[in-house]
Amino acid sequence: MKNIAIFASGSGSNAENIANYFKDKAVAEVVLMLTNNANAFVLERAKKLAVESVVFSSEQLKSGELASLLNDKAIDLIVLAGFLLKIPENLIAAFPNKIINIHPALLPKYGGKGMYGDAVHKAVVANKEKETGITIHYVNEHYDEGAIIFQAKCAVSETDTYENVARKIHQLEYKHFPRVIEDFLLKRKL
Ligand code: GAR
Repeated sequence: MKNIAIFASGSGSNAENIANYFKDKAVAEVVLMLTNNANAFVLERAKKLAVESVVFSSEQLKSGELASLLNDKAIDLIVLAGFLLKIPENLIAAFPNKIINIHPALLPKYGGKGMYGDAVHKAVVANKEKETGITIHYVNEHYDEGAIIFQAKCAVSETDTYENVARKIHQLEYKHFPRVIEDFLLKRKL
């Protein structure tokens, strides 16, 4: 049984979906949800799911003290699901190839600093893209530039608003992200 920690900065609907997916599975369990935002709704979700949660400051993230906490909890995989801050090099070094992120677009398009949540979908609509999608990738020291593990696409119609696109993207995320994590744990033998 592998231990998953999820980092989220806001709503945490992916965090909840992943935790529910692994509830009845032998392969892994979500044992910790961490956030940099004391008002994030993900904390309510963690409480409801009876998953331990941790709030940390950006200074604590940078200092490296999270690595020892995550090691104490025997975390095997860190999943970023709607996490806003940059992961510092010390954490990447402590968890080599064991941190993955979901991005709500088809990277390398619409990635980088400031490209988060609705800002991504607004840009996709403004540019009249015909399709968009999700990217699950390794986390390295550059925003949204780690090697791609999985992508899935959906169509964008001329009448789609950014809210519609956000809904489509969330549906894709709920469908694929838990399964891709499971596959990752089994195939990479973490
Ligand atoms: C998700 O769509 C995720 O892909 C995105 O934030 C949303 C969080 O939703 N992440 C990024 O934009 C990262 N650059 P949730 O809190 O309901 O899971």
